Amino acid sequence: MRAQTEGYHPELGAALNHLLSSGGKRIRPAVTLLAGGVIGGELEKSIIMGAAVELLHTATLVHDDLIDESLMRRGNPTLNARWSAAATVLTGDFLFARAAKLASELDSPPALRLFAETLAIIVNGELTQMFTSRGKVSREDYYRRIYAKTASLFETATTSVAMLCSADDELLNKMRQYGYEIGMAFQMVDDILDFNGEQARVGKPVANDLRQGLVTLPALYYLEAYPDDANMQTVLHAPRCDEDCYAHLLYSIRKSGAIQQAADEARQYVRRGIAAITDFPPSEYRQGLMELAEYIVDRKF
Ligand code: IPE
Ligand code: IPE
Ligand code: MG
Ligand code: MG
Repeated sequence: MRAQTEGYHPELGAALNHLLSSGGKRIRPAVTLLAGGVIGGELEKSIIMGAAVELLHTATLVHDDLIDESLMRRGNPTLNARWSAAATVLTGDFLFARAAKLASELDSPPALRLFAETLAIIVNGELTQMFTSRGKVSREDYYRRIYAKTASLFETATTSVAMLCSADDELLNKMRQYGYEIGMAFQMVDDILDFNGEQARVGKPVANDLRQGLVTLPALYYLEAYPDDANMQTVLHAPRCDEDCYAHLLYSIRKSGAIQQAADEARQYVRRGIAAITDFPPSEYRQGLMELAEYIVDRKF
């Protein structure tokens, strides 16, 4: 990843250095490398794909924080907190380009096609979220949205390495399913942490989704149990819920059991993800994928 940032304008270099140094969990490259190990792929190729996937992810975060006007990420100020929108957009674009270049180094048109299609799915998902009118929420919309914004990239991380070593369809589909299930669970937990996470640990603003009109799984469970909650209706239909309204609603959701229901659902996805890879021969890589799946639902940041 660092090698992709060398030799450019000093300001760009400094921004990229800031982004890469702030880390993040690096969960997608971890998934990519472990999946490559399970499927018997070449390590060098898995490393390139893992770096490409993480750069793509980082680019989407740069743009997401600009779109959301979010000022903190990974415990650090975002690029948009310090820089103009123009410079932030261009830095994201640069990262997209470098991610694509890395993916192309693998000389696998199917993997590169999948990579490009995934970016289209992510962007289309973000636009759909942006243009969906506030009042309209359903579980189906929610699942579609989290697939687009998060699970699709996890799926690509595992599927692409299987493609690189021309795994047969059955193995490829198992890897795809593992990526899909843990990716869905990952976003559900991200949405849960928005309700019950500690900002200092999570490293980004919390209690924020509802404020942005984003109804996620805990709120959906709450809405199913209390369809007439006045504050919830204000979030859904009125232009603005004030601070008091948000505070009451967050309190009600936290004490309602909706967060636990969402966590239980995420756990079911993780179980299916683990089940998808049980037929692969036992190895430290398979064990790693299983533990990583568990980590996804147990994590606090
Ligand atoms: C944040 O992803 C955006 C989501 C898709 C939820 P991560 O939680 O993986 O972010 P980093 O890379 O660890 O900061
Ligand atoms: C961001 O999802 C997903 C993409 C970057 C496509 P979120 O909006 O949930 O991510 P956070 O919570 O800001 O990390
Ligand atoms: Mg965001
Ligand atoms: Mg989030």
